[in-house]
Amino acid sequence: MFQPEAPLVERRQVARDLFVLAFAAPEVAAAALPGQFVNLLLRPGPLLRRPFSVHRATEGRVEILLRAVGAGTAGLLALRPGDCVSLLGPLGAGFRLDAAWGSIALLSGGLGVAPFPLAAQAARAAGLEVTWVHGARTAADLCSEWEGDRVVWATDDGSRGFAGSAVDAVPEVGAILACGPNPMLAAVARRWPEAQVAVETYMGCGTGVCLGCAVPKAAGGYDRACSEGPVYRAGDIDWPALPDHLHYRLTA
Ligand SMILES: Cc1cc2nc3c(=O)[nH]c(=O)nc-3n(C[C@H](O)[C@H](O)[C@H](O)COP(=O)(O)OP(=O)(O)OC[C@H]3O[C@@H](n4cnc5c(N)ncnc54)[C@H](O)[C@@H]3O)c2cc1C
Ligand code: FES
Repeated sequence: MFQPEAPLVERRQVARDLFVLAFAAPEVAAAALPGQFVNLLLRPGPLLRRPFSVHRATEGRVEILLRAVGAGTAGLLALRPGDCVSLLGPLGAGFRLDAAWGSIALLSGGLGVAPFPLAAQAARAAGLEVTWVHGARTAADLCSEWEGDRVVWATDDGSRGFAGSAVDAVPEVGAILACGPNPMLAAVARRWPEAQVAVETYMGCGTGVCLGCAVPKAAGGYDRACSEGPVYRAGDIDWPALPDHLHYRLTA
């Protein structure tokens, strides 16, 4: 779906440098599934669209979660209510949910929390018990909003919740969905190869044409994160071959 003029309707701060932006986009909101993303274009702004996970999609609004890392994200954070972006989406293949799992953990590091409010709502609607496991470097970096049946916080410096990696704070559950820095996701893959992980790559077109979003597969060859992904079975990715340039997902 393509909405050339999606107005900003809300902006709120949820951690030290993390903000939620909500755009009025009723058709995209109605169609969005957990783990999918939208591709936003700012005018004036960078030439290429910028991809963002759908954070929430309710009441005709599409929310994204972001931190300023460059011109595109800084431009988005400078928008005022009523300013518009061009919005393309929902794109990509999202998380799979199965009521037979009984319970699920949504495991995130830093900005990796972005796809999980929508996933939590869908999982609960599917009858799953949801544990929200969210980690960051320090308490001020934790996203203050969460959804699910219970929450587990983790901080590298021990300032809130479990002291250490959020990966080590995951309770016994039927299935795990994870999103965060690639080293964290690689650790998830080693421990739980059946987990589903949302990965990030550079993206050009976001629609399967440019091959700029290649994800190396454990079985050989490459996938397109924008089309076959961004969600994968953790054990299916060749983690050492996936570049860790995605520093904006880091817990800092
Ligand atoms: C499927 C997907 C979902 C995403 N979801 C979110 C989200 O929910 N919230 C969020 O804040 N960000 C998300 N991102 C990342 C976001 O798209 C980039 O932060 C954004 O494009 C940066 O644009 P910029 O103009 O601000 O920065 P730029 O000036 O383009 O770049 C700033 C720095 O970030 C690096 N960078 C920029 N884009 C990418 C990229 N796609 N992959 C790797 N490195 C990059 C550059 O190398 C540079 O060092 C997602 C990316 C993908 C592919
Ligand atoms: S971003 Fe162009 S093919 Fe995926």
